[in-house]
Amino acid sequence: MFSPSQLLVFAGLAVSLAECALVAPANKGVPATISDPADFNGTTTDTSAIASTAQQVDQKSGAPTDVAPNQPVADTTVTAVDGDLVNATVASTSRRSLTGAASHLSRRNNSNYELVFWGTGTGPNDRDASIEGTAYLTYTVVSNATYDIDDCLAKCDSVDGCVFANLYYEFNNPGLDHQFSEGSNLKCALYADIHNATEKTNFGGQQLYPAPGGLTYIQQSSGWAAKSLVDPATPSGYDLVFGPTNGANNAPGYMGFAFLDKYDVDACATLCNQRGADPVGGACQYFNIWRAVVNGVPTTYTCSMYYIVADESTAVNYGQGSLVVTESRGYKRQNIVVDGGFEGYTCDDEGDDVPFCFTASYANWQGTSPAGGTFDASIFNYQPYAHTGSAVALLGSAFDFDSLPGTLAPTQSLATHSGASYTLQFFHSSFYSGQVDEANATLAVIWNGQTIDTLHPGFAQWTPHQYTVTAKGNDQLQFTGGNAPAYVFVDDVSLYPL
Ligand SMILES: *[C@@H]1O[C@H](CO)[C@@H](O)[C@H](O)[C@H]1NC(C)=O
Ligand SMILES: *[C@@H]1O[C@H](CO)[C@@H](O)[C@H](O)[C@H]1NC(C)=O
Ligand SMILES: *[C@@H]1O[C@H](CO)[C@@H](O)[C@H](O)[C@H]1NC(C)=O
Ligand SMILES: *[C@@H]1O[C@H](CO)[C@@H](O)[C@H](O)[C@H]1NC(C)=O
Ligand SMILES: *[C@@H]1O[C@H](CO)[C@@H](O)[C@H](O)[C@H]1NC(C)=O
Ligand SMILES: *[C@@H]1O[C@H](CO)[C@@H](O)[C@H](O)[C@H]1NC(C)=O
Repeated sequence: MFSPSQLLVFAGLAVSLAECALVAPANKGVPATISDPADFNGTTTDTSAIASTAQQVDQKSGAPTDVAPNQPVADTTVTAVDGDLVNATVASTSRRSLTGAASHLSRRNNSNYELVFWGTGTGPNDRDASIEGTAYLTYTVVSNATYDIDDCLAKCDSVDGCVFANLYYEFNNPGLDHQFSEGSNLKCALYADIHNATEKTNFGGQQLYPAPGGLTYIQQSSGWAAKSLVDPATPSGYDLVFGPTNGANNAPGYMGFAFLDKYDVDACATLCNQRGADPVGGACQYFNIWRAVVNGVPTTYTCSMYYIVADESTAVNYGQGSLVVTESRGYKRQNIVVDGGFEGYTCDDEGDDVPFCFTASYANWQGTSPAGGTFDASIFNYQPYAHTGSAVALLGSAFDFDSLPGTLAPTQSLATHSGASYTLQFFHSSFYSGQVDEANATLAVIWNGQTIDTLHPGFAQWTPHQYTVTAKGNDQLQFTGGNAPAYVFVDDVSLYPL
């Protein structure tokens, strides 16, 4: 039997063995607790939910019979979110600076149209139908003294995003005949997508005059499409990654999707900016917008959002069943922080399988120690320590020489716009020394000298953190913390314009 005092001796030995076992990061130590590998299984695009929702949504419309011509184009509407049908307009935060910019599928700059389909004649018994299709914008009426195609196409030219016009007579509509000041029944309906004769489904048949007045009917319904389509302007705060192609992304880090009533890249950017952060992957960093064509007819405009930046290599979903993917483009969020993943710091010796090196500073980041401290903030190129890639920043004495907090900051001030709002995001972990020794890990986030948050995470795996900050221009960002052996790692620092 051991006496109680012998037990204490053994317990003390166990503790000191554990302490000895922990090798400092500067000595290429193995963390006491291994970082959980990021598990992105099950986070790829849910293409079947998108396809089945596309079969349910109805975004087709045409010029109404009871509304005066020349109404302003309505804001882009969200018609589905993550598989649920909804009806909500997109708050247009990212569109404030885009007056006059082409934000839609395309826009030509001259009257350069081609006939898609011609209407049936004007005889008393001829009947035709107008288009009911996606991306309806507005309608006007043009003089019915002649069949005034030019005037209708000129109107399309003047409406942002218009690429298609449906010109037709609508009879027995008292609004057109008497009420609206234009005094014409030759309607010119404008769309932000191209439609064809298979979509001529509105045959009228409404009783708008009191009986025995006739029912409404349509004649000479022709369709005109822009000959050349131009790329939409890239939304502010984003860069085009690929497109247009006929493949949608099937990629990890998927956050969900929304359907839009128009191909509106700015609306999709706004949805990405406003999407709540994923608890593991963080903020939306990338979106993929594409047009779903079902049975040959444009049906909806998908906006898929991701917390991992994708590219054309995963844009391999060409459709399923009757659904075909077209006009697919990927856009990635701009990061104001230069080299926020520290990957600009690389090792000289290329002999090792897994490179290992560290420094107190390099071109893009500066680590500083308080008086009496040694390597209290440093940058490592060593893949086992990193969140993504192979480089990462460490707070806390890299040699375990002292327990003073270090400070990490970009070497250059941030290229921000005064008064603009940004999302600051970074990933932090404090697992290196294990549960007990990481208990006192702290990390302060400092923006222009003001501490905006102090984290006391204790032991923690990689976790994203987000803050909304307002810039004053040339802003200063700092991270202070770590008190060895309560080490703190910081990786993937980003500042996204809102
Ligand atoms: C992801 O799935 C693959 C195949 O099912 C599996 O081999 C791998 O271990 C999984 N990764 C994680 C981190 O769970
Ligand atoms: C969506 O809401 C608007 C405004 O409330 C309404 O005018 C419109 O008819 C609705 N659309 C659908 C498809 O429900
Ligand atoms: C229209 O396009 C032509 C050539 O494609 C170009 O030279 C001209 O600047 C454009 N005009 C406008 C207003 O964008
Ligand atoms: C033109 O439209 C007006 C208003 O609907 C209608 O009264 C008139 O008969 C139309 N003229 C022709 C030639 O169709
Ligand atoms: C119109 O749409 C139908 C239905 O998909 C398609 O078969 C046809 O080729 C299209 N016509 C033209 C001229 O594009
Ligand atoms: C954490 O901080 C408290 C208060 O300063 C201290 O008593 C404790 O020993 C610290 N724990 C570790 C593991 O350093």
